[in-house]
Amino acid sequence: MQARGNWSSKFGFVMAAAGSAIGLGNIWKFPYVAGANGGGGFLLIYLAIVATIGFSVLMAELVIGRSTQRNPVGAIKRLQGGKWWPLIGYAGIITAFVILSYYVVVAGWTLAYIFKSASGLLATTDDKALGGMFTGFISDPVEPVLWAGAFTALTVFVVIGGVNQGLERSSRILMPALFGLVVILCIRSLTLPGAGAGWDFFTTPDWSKVTFQTVIDALGQAFFSLSLGMGTIITYGSYLSRDTDVVESGFTVVSLDTLIAVMAGVMILPAVFAFGLDPAAGPGLTFITLPHVFAQMTGGVFFGPLFFVLLAIAALTSAVSLLEVVTAYFVDELGWKRKTCTIWAGVVAFLLCIPSSLSLGVWSDATLFGKGFLDIMDFLATNLMLPIGGMAISLFVGWVVPKEMMDDFCSGNPKLGNLAKVWLFFVRIVSPLAIFVVLLNGLPFVAPYLPWN
Ligand code: PHE
Repeated sequence: MQARGNWSSKFGFVMAAAGSAIGLGNIWKFPYVAGANGGGGFLLIYLAIVATIGFSVLMAELVIGRSTQRNPVGAIKRLQGGKWWPLIGYAGIITAFVILSYYVVVAGWTLAYIFKSASGLLATTDDKALGGMFTGFISDPVEPVLWAGAFTALTVFVVIGGVNQGLERSSRILMPALFGLVVILCIRSLTLPGAGAGWDFFTTPDWSKVTFQTVIDALGQAFFSLSLGMGTIITYGSYLSRDTDVVESGFTVVSLDTLIAVMAGVMILPAVFAFGLDPAAGPGLTFITLPHVFAQMTGGVFFGPLFFVLLAIAALTSAVSLLEVVTAYFVDELGWKRKTCTIWAGVVAFLLCIPSSLSLGVWSDATLFGKGFLDIMDFLATNLMLPIGGMAISLFVGWVVPKEMMDDFCSGNPKLGNLAKVWLFFVRIVSPLAIFVVLLNGLPFVAPYLPWN
């Protein structure tokens, strides 16, 4: 038996879990998904989902992990999950690879942008030129793949270091730094001439733009951003000692993640309107808007590269948590050496990222339902695998082991009894049902066949 690591303190756990949650999902994805879904309406639905389904599923994962001190597969087996429930854990491992396949690509872009912004290459307020540079870069067959490879290598390196050295240490200082810089950028964006229209767009719902597609995008985004539905939080919870108050930790993680996502919206969308760009422009939004902000801001030459460094680190702590799910399984269940399995998983992740990156350039013609490889992977993970995983985790906790999990929810703080009852109602009924309804009505290949549509 190899000794399992443990977080050195509750603070360490919260920082590491927040490090997993806060990443490209908040800063790259949230603003452009909100922009494409009409802004304010999306924001409200997102917040409602996070506070209900998001929080309840996060707590479900946290108590499974903490009470069993195992990786997702082992945890569910130990809780008498029989033959079928451990599939949640195996599905999580597959989902980790699906997400990694494009996560490292976008994270590679942030690495490249550190150097591009430091060299002054992006120092222009000409949005056409910035857009051209971005598209030119991501569609290159070689350069982005190399950056993705470098990023994957960094991720492998941190995961090999193990729980407290690798994961915890990297999150502690850098997360607060990122937070500070995002605050500065929010202020800059809001004080640009013409920013008001973007603020209104983001904060005032236009219900005519809201459909079931908006709701499923918000649901998927909530799962992606909170790292839910694939066992990441089970895995991180398993390194938490049994006497910590999980509810408070869970609440802090959800709040921090949501705060950063909303702030990223405030940082990007007002600037988008101030520059006359299209909020629905898609994945390039952050990478095109921010260089423009830096180019005309005092100290932009300094803040630009610093921002991309911090974003790359935020992405790193998230990628590490994806890879850790795979590693924890091989180490706990199959007795592999941490180093061996992490390197192998890294190689697989790197190979999978190649088609993702090429699908934005030389392979852009190879599509399925009009989507390239990267988009398909993102759709599969965000809109299908994570919500379905979250639904399964909820049902498992709510119906198979409710008694044990309720006890664990309250352990360390007996005053939580009533909250535990509300939580149980959510994991039993509200969350699974809501996820099911949203999936049915929001998936483009199911919705048209429903009798009421
Ligand atoms: N939550 C991470 C982000 O927002 C991505 C992630 C998803 C990490 C699922 C782990 C599991 O960037």
